[in-house]
Amino acid sequence: MILSNKELETIVDTTDEWITRRTGIQERRIASKHREETSTDLATQAALNALDMAGMEPNQMDMIVVGTVTPDRQFPSTACMLQKTLNANRIAAFDVSAGCSGFLYALSIVNDAIRAGSCKTALVLGVERLSTIVDWQDRGTCVLLGDGAGAVVVTAASDGRGILSTHLRADGNLWDLLYAQYGHEYLPEVLKDVDIKPFHLRMEGNRLFKRAIGCLSSIATEALEHNSLTSEDIALVVPHQANLRIIQAMAGNLNFPMEKVFTNVHKYGNTSSASIPIALDEANRQGLLKKDDRALLVAFGAGLTWGSSIVTWSI
Ligand code: COA
Repeated sequence: MILSNKELETIVDTTDEWITRRTGIQERRIASKHREETSTDLATQAALNALDMAGMEPNQMDMIVVGTVTPDRQFPSTACMLQKTLNANRIAAFDVSAGCSGFLYALSIVNDAIRAGSCKTALVLGVERLSTIVDWQDRGTCVLLGDGAGAVVVTAASDGRGILSTHLRADGNLWDLLYAQYGHEYLPEVLKDVDIKPFHLRMEGNRLFKRAIGCLSSIATEALEHNSLTSEDIALVVPHQANLRIIQAMAGNLNFPMEKVFTNVHKYGNTSSASIPIALDEANRQGLLKKDDRALLVAFGAGLTWGSSIVTWSI
């Protein structure tokens, strides 16, 4: 379902005006436990869409890596559940837990595996059902988050296109700025279809906000410098979609005009690991990425973790 800011006004003490002004978010998607919308279901749909666009079959994959903090089960991994639904057996499949940077961590692992020769083609996904761990009584967090999935097919290339570099960082000293903990199971009536889990999310929004801008800006700069590029060499920045104000501040620090920065946070809220692959897919389908364009991907999340990558678009 689509959950609008207006509907959130009936759940917690908030307003459409406050959410829009402070975050840029207008609505978010919420998965249902009744309509085949588990993390595995969302992952399956995203994977099939990516395979279809790549013109490839599941049995051509050598590896499945899923970035997620909301797997359907503690174990086995979402990647193994997905492997079953795709019937892509006897290949490596595992999840990566790196908060909202999960997709970039997964992409980096696959990039390294392909470069090392242990894998030729891989499915990389970001999948989240954050609605299952949201505290629907905490207005400071429940207005920010949404559910979704995105996927890419990554394959070895010899033409110099593709992933130019990846850059990853973490600072576990700050783990307690954003985490899940055991708690109550309150659910508002309007969300009775959510498959709630026995823990919920805690966040220090204000401190995270400042960290996010600094970390995103520095890791994006590192990726540019590593490849001897400037902001003018980048066709499109595809940042993690947490908050429009964070994205605008980062763009300002890096001298990117907002026309070069893709945003869809107004439609989906923060979908954690899923936000970059969803944004990449939308940007691609809207014709914003053309062959040989360079895209800068940059993320920040719980852990704390942050990362970046520069990709030369090859389709
Ligand atoms: N509706 C109305 N008021 C709200 C609210 C809501 N949904 N959530 C918080 N408030 C209130 C607070 O209680 C506070 O009230 P007070 O001044 O009376 O104490 C006031 O709004 C300001 O709160 P503050 O937390 O300082 O606001 P902010 O400008 O920092 O914005 C966030 C809050 C959460 C939007 C912002 O901090 C943020 O986006 N942080 C990063 C979060 C994030 O990206 N997390 C994921 C990392 S990947």
